[in-house]
Amino acid sequence: MAKIAKLDDIVSLCKRRGFIFQSSEIYGGLASCYDYGPLGVELKRNVRKAWWDNIVRMRDDVVGLDCSILMHPLVWKASGHADKFADLIAECKKCNTRTRVDHLADHTEEHAEHISIDTAMAAQQDLSKKECPKCKTIGKFTEPMPFKLMFETQMGANVDDSMTLYLRPETAQGIFANFRNVMDTTRIKIPFGIGQIGKSFRNEVTTKAFIFRTREFEQAELEFFCEPGTDEKWYEYWKENRFNWYVNLGIKKENLRLRDHDPDELAHYAKACVDVEYKFPFGSGDWQELEGIANRTDYDLRQHQRGMRTLNRWFESGRDLTKVELADEAEKYQSGPLSYFDDEQKRRYIPYVIEPSAGIDRSTLAFLVDAYDEEEVRGETRNLLRFHPELAPVKAAVFPLVKKDGMPEIARKIYDDLKKYFTCFYDQKGAVGRRYRRQDEAGTPYCLTVDGQTREDNTVTVRDRDSMEQTRVSTDQLLNHLREKLKL
Ligand code: GAP
Repeated sequence: MAKIAKLDDIVSLCKRRGFIFQSSEIYGGLASCYDYGPLGVELKRNVRKAWWDNIVRMRDDVVGLDCSILMHPLVWKASGHADKFADLIAECKKCNTRTRVDHLADHTEEHAEHISIDTAMAAQQDLSKKECPKCKTIGKFTEPMPFKLMFETQMGANVDDSMTLYLRPETAQGIFANFRNVMDTTRIKIPFGIGQIGKSFRNEVTTKAFIFRTREFEQAELEFFCEPGTDEKWYEYWKENRFNWYVNLGIKKENLRLRDHDPDELAHYAKACVDVEYKFPFGSGDWQELEGIANRTDYDLRQHQRGMRTLNRWFESGRDLTKVELADEAEKYQSGPLSYFDDEQKRRYIPYVIEPSAGIDRSTLAFLVDAYDEEEVRGETRNLLRFHPELAPVKAAVFPLVKKDGMPEIARKIYDDLKKYFTCFYDQKGAVGRRYRRQDEAGTPYCLTVDGQTREDNTVTVRDRDSMEQTRVSTDQLLNHLREKLKL
């Protein structure tokens, strides 16, 4: 029976074994920023690869993209982020702590989604009974005010040509901005998708729970373009597909669910949205968003048609986004530059978009939490990570039983041969039992030990992380044996 992990256990294991460190730790740390250590970087690469293989590489109807983080400011005007991407906050008059109003209102520690400012403003804001999460004072808040979530930066050295840019708050807009480029350079036809993995940045008011919500994070987003009228079918398809992706990578089904958004929760661009939620061990012990799947309709492509028609206004405004109005009519043109011509039907339309949007860091945390286990073995506690083999940072560790009698040389040779095929680790220090325990904590599925018998019959022991059972396998069969077990 798997143990229910506590977040503190995970944080401490991550630090102890080099998965994840606080950023700038030697300077006292930078809040909500984290660095991935030697094991963490392999784990995160495997999460990314699992997404990319499943969504892009193995599909004929999806192509990949890698856009720049800095984009033209009009992108964010057209997408709605420049005007609407904000949280409603209130400041405690006693300790000056700013808190998201929806966090106060819900009495929960987490609220997965940013609600639109319009929705938040429209809702009655009675904060008289709400408690400041920091100093616990009740009902002493300022009037709620919007807090912009995009980070700003300056581009250009000269006053004349420098302008304010934003660090992208989602990777999706780079995909929409390249829709025409992809259409013109590939032979792909609708329905098709464009996938991208990359960093996004949000100046979150509330960051917490380790890598769950940070200000710099990585997203894996797919924009799947389809004919209007087929969008609901594709929405259902991607819901199921994305839920199964987590289950197939080892997340226990009982810890995962789909939750449809209520109409007042929907983002400004969405016709429908569902969250894949995971039962994270923090907050009010509640379900938290792991990934969102939205039906964005043709909103974004239409908006970018407006944005493209707004370029002259942008220059006239002195490149001041607050003074630019988007072009009015351009979004209505079915035949605009971001439309699609359907050869078979001989008609042109603006495609609808289904968007599964996942967080690489957040799923990495879910995979860590779900894999964590503790068990009693001969009076001692064994901590282990039962990672799916595809995600395990190290697939096999190779040990000589002792540092003599030619064992290290044989073990080294096995290690050198195997590391050409998957990530391996060599260790000859300390008692073999301790070496097993270290690999259990790293989530390594198999440990191979060269011992006295190896010189006699060319076999080594292969120890299974989960059952701790050991079998003898001939060295010339090792690669095949492990590949079959690891399904690599
Ligand atoms: N393009 C749609 C979009 O960005 P979102 O629900 O805001 O939608 C999608 O973000 C996913 O990105 C989330 O489900 C989560 O996994 C991840 N994510 C969002 N904000 C995050 C943050 N501050 N820290 C870590 N991951 C975050």
